[in-house]
Amino acid sequence: MTGSESLSAISHTETILRCEEITKRFGGLVAVNRVSLEVRPGEVIGLIGDNGAGKSTLIHVISGLYPPDKGLLYLGGKEVTFSSPMDARQMGIETIYQDLALAEAYLALSKRGGSA
Ligand SMILES: Nc1ncnc2c1ncn2[C@@H]1O[C@H](COP(=O)(O)OP(=O)(O)O)[C@@H](O)[C@H]1O
Ligand SMILES: [Mg+2]
Repeated sequence: MTGSESLSAISHTETILRCEEITKRFGGLVAVNRVSLEVRPGEVIGLIGDNGAGKSTLIHVISGLYPPDKGLLYLGGKEVTFSSPMDARQMGIETIYQDLALAEAYLALSKRGGSA
């Protein structure tokens, strides 16, 4: 799959995203250990776990920041490897990071408006 193909080209009967036995290590620490999941059209999937469970690391692998040490990623049934977050984005993976961005926008507007 190349960057020119996007999720919009994928049939809605297919699994959009599939993670197969994804493992990511940092030195001796196994942050993500053989995680598999599938996302189908219309599904919303939540990742729930304690601090340090590996949620962010898995998202980083899915969004192209880290290559997995083991395991495979599929988009629309095709195996993909991402060389960067931009590469993943061009294939349809958008990541919204946990941030104070909304609060910062509010503060910026407040300063402009003066009275808020
Ligand atoms: N860049 C990194 N270098 C080394 N260890 C990391 C790095 N990122 C995360 N970790 C470690 O990997 C584990 C999983 O972290 P993380 O994915 O951030 O968990 P969560 O998002 O579920 O809180 C933790 O033990 C964390 O300290
Ligand atoms: Mg996290």
